[in-house]
Amino acid sequence: MEISNRIRGFQASPIRRLSPYARAAKARGIKVYHLNIGQPDIKSPKEALDAIHSYPNDIIAYGESDGDLELRKALVRYYGDSVGVNITTDDVLITTGGSEAILFSLMALCDPGDEVIVPEPYYTNVHSFARMANVSIVPVTSLLEDNFALPPLNMIEERITSKTRAILLNSPNNPTGHIYSAKELEIILDMCERHDIFLIVDEVYREFCYDGLKFTSILSYEKYSERVICIDSVSKRFSMCGARVGALICRNRNVIRETLKLSQARLCSPTVEQHASLAAFGAPSEYLENVKKEYEKRRNFVVKALHSIPGVKCSRPNGAFYLIARLPVEDAENFSIFMLRDFDYKGETVMLAPAEGFYESKDLGRDQVRIAYVLNTEDLGKACECLKEGLKAYNNREI
Ligand SMILES: Cc1ncc(COP(=O)(O)O)c(C=O)c1O
Repeated sequence: MEISNRIRGFQASPIRRLSPYARAAKARGIKVYHLNIGQPDIKSPKEALDAIHSYPNDIIAYGESDGDLELRKALVRYYGDSVGVNITTDDVLITTGGSEAILFSLMALCDPGDEVIVPEPYYTNVHSFARMANVSIVPVTSLLEDNFALPPLNMIEERITSKTRAILLNSPNNPTGHIYSAKELEIILDMCERHDIFLIVDEVYREFCYDGLKFTSILSYEKYSERVICIDSVSKRFSMCGARVGALICRNRNVIRETLKLSQARLCSPTVEQHASLAAFGAPSEYLENVKKEYEKRRNFVVKALHSIPGVKCSRPNGAFYLIARLPVEDAENFSIFMLRDFDYKGETVMLAPAEGFYESKDLGRDQVRIAYVLNTEDLGKACECLKEGLKAYNNREI
């Protein structure tokens, strides 16, 4: 009996695949600081937790395939009041996380063999979603030296072929923390229009913009609304990653009508968690203001701490809660394994996500790691101390 070649072609998540080493380190009594995964330590809004504790129904029933109407209405209000764009409930499909919204977008726009252009490094699970949809990712490389700004337009344009169906952006970006400017977005939209392709923008981190930067949603450009899909999620906004509630937002009726067939096939998104997400949108505005302040403080702290480690270079992210750092090692995956398997500093170590898996092009990012600054500054300080000592030990070890 054989399993499929398709499944063999999938990659194990670079964020999670070193987990067995972390488990073994913990079994040896070592404390592991997790900088590998974007699981915030921030509490979910009280309103959401209360809604779960007081769930009023006797049956956890199937819900509507396009999502709970009250939640869709809450999203419409939130977009109007907080994002500054007008949408209607007809533009919103609730999905099982932003993840499903990305997969549905690819399925809706592309036939097998079609291509989607994505600046790399990029959110690594997109690789798997593309494989599920039999779509090829065509990368355009952005550089640490440029703080991962959008690559020059001609580099993107020359990747467009007759098979290109869409460009996929993520802003604020995981893993780089980069935010595309309104100007950059306009240039890309104009290019999509000229080539008659779609633009998908994943905005799941839109609340987390630092240095006073104002976020511009792709939905603000009404002139292009027929060719734009926006990906959203409660996971990071409300620290509700386990709720698995997201949204696909699109003003193109055809896209929504056709994508609904996929929503119907998987019946519905989680019922109780949609109820909790609805409550989360009722949290006072200070909730998000405080979360943003906390991440900005952590960003400032971790960038300074990393720059003080000899040989380490990192981008200065102005959004989300990730950054890419270049380490003074040849192979960041080997080093990350060393940190978990062979090293501890005062009984502690750190888990990193090797960045190679965030690139589509071969041999890029080998000396880079992604760092998620989702720990409080005290723990971030200890984690950076471990990293500094670990690099010394790794580069002085006898081979
Ligand atoms: C850029 C980006 N998009 C989408 C997702 C998936 O989010 P969700 O938990 O809503 O599926 C993540 C999760 O880390 C992400 O970083």
